[in-house]
Amino acid sequence: MHTFQPCPIEVFDSNPFTMLGKDWAVLTSGTKEKSNSMTISWGGFGVLWNKNVCYVFVRDSRYTKTLMDTCGTFSLTFFQKGFSRSILMYLGTVSGAREDKMKMTHLHVNESDGIPFIDEGNLVITCKMLSAAKLTPDSFLNPDIETSHYKDGDFHTMYIGEILQVMAR
Ligand SMILES: Cc1cc2nc3c(=O)[nH]c(=O)nc-3n(C[C@H](O)[C@H](O)[C@H](O)COP(=O)(O)O)c2cc1C
Repeated sequence: MHTFQPCPIEVFDSNPFTMLGKDWAVLTSGTKEKSNSMTISWGGFGVLWNKNVCYVFVRDSRYTKTLMDTCGTFSLTFFQKGFSRSILMYLGTVSGAREDKMKMTHLHVNESDGIPFIDEGNLVITCKMLSAAKLTPDSFLNPDIETSHYKDGDFHTMYIGEILQVMAR
């Protein structure tokens, strides 16, 4: 496998709807020594406050959230076509509060400037958190959102991260 190389943002022309919504990504936070990873399919990329940003939505119940709230950075790892869907399903259904998910999947944690990511990926985005905003019912303009997504009160926090680096194999 090739080593990761920095990929200038101008060269990054991937489609976020397929990258996240269809193919999924793995969100990792913490440190290389103590990290946790979970599968995500909601989020995006854009520009805010004159910075290139990435935003993700993480529910209160996620163990990964506790690490995000203390370390202030996160990464997204994307995988090549054909990467095990069952590993992504496992990372997206089991909590790191109960199992060592890296050990169970035989995946490896790498790091860039102290930000952990999954070494088996082929594209990695590292981010420094700029904002964490909880999405609560008072902000929903359509009442269906609360009834269809938050019956259990497990709300999302929107994390906006400044993109520090995009790396590709
Ligand atoms: C395809 C897929 C997409 C997911 N997307 C999200 C998401 O965008 N936000 C979120 O909070 N949870 C999402 N989840 C659920 C978490 O990945 C899941 O609850 C995970 O077990 C949390 O792990 P943790 O407790 O170790 O952090 C998704 C799960 C799957 C399978």
